[in-house]
Amino acid sequence: MMTEIVLIRGDITRQSVDAIVNAANSSLLGGGGVDGAIHRRGGPAILAECRALRAGDYRDGLPAGRAVATTAGDLDARWVIHTVGPVWSSHEDRTATLASCYRESLYLAAQLGATTIAFPAISTGVYGWPIDDGARIAVNTVRTSPIPGRVPEVDEVRFVLFDDVALRSFEAAVG
Ligand code: APR
Repeated sequence: MMTEIVLIRGDITRQSVDAIVNAANSSLLGGGGVDGAIHRRGGPAILAECRALRAGDYRDGLPAGRAVATTAGDLDARWVIHTVGPVWSSHEDRTATLASCYRESLYLAAQLGATTIAFPAISTGVYGWPIDDGARIAVNTVRTSPIPGRVPEVDEVRFVLFDDVALRSFEAAVG
């Protein structure tokens, strides 16, 4: 089964999918943008599990490029997958770390048994990544991972874009 890529303009907290990906920060303790919206609408159960992760395997926080799952709380999903994008840098190429966010989240979703996953445009907000390049990395990474046959593939990858500029960037990246 090939993974279908779907683009929609909307609010990621209103998606009905198996896994919703959060554009988190390393603290896993919330923030603004997607992070704020997910915790606001998802409720305290998500933060409670994030705190448990910080008290356990992630004492120093979640490194950029990595992904971890919690309950989705009151969201219409089974899991929230928290991933930490790289902050944009004009003098250091952090493409590999941004690609890792998508790859690790996809791989974790497949391992959990998720068949549909919703991604925001990671790092393209507060973290300042130019949307066109962020869209290109997102689409190219999803198209090339996970390695077929290693894990059951996710059926649908849904990119949920918050504005028309982002939607157009992803449409161009999909081609
Ligand atoms: N649904 C979908 N997309 C959204 C939503 C939403 N509810 N809210 C914002 N976005 C879009 C933004 O317009 C941007 O294109 O998600 C993209 C990522 O923006 P941010 O949420 O700012 O995430 P990021 O750039 O990765 O920065 C992460 O911001 O909120 C803090 O705690 C977070 O420190 C972390 C940092």
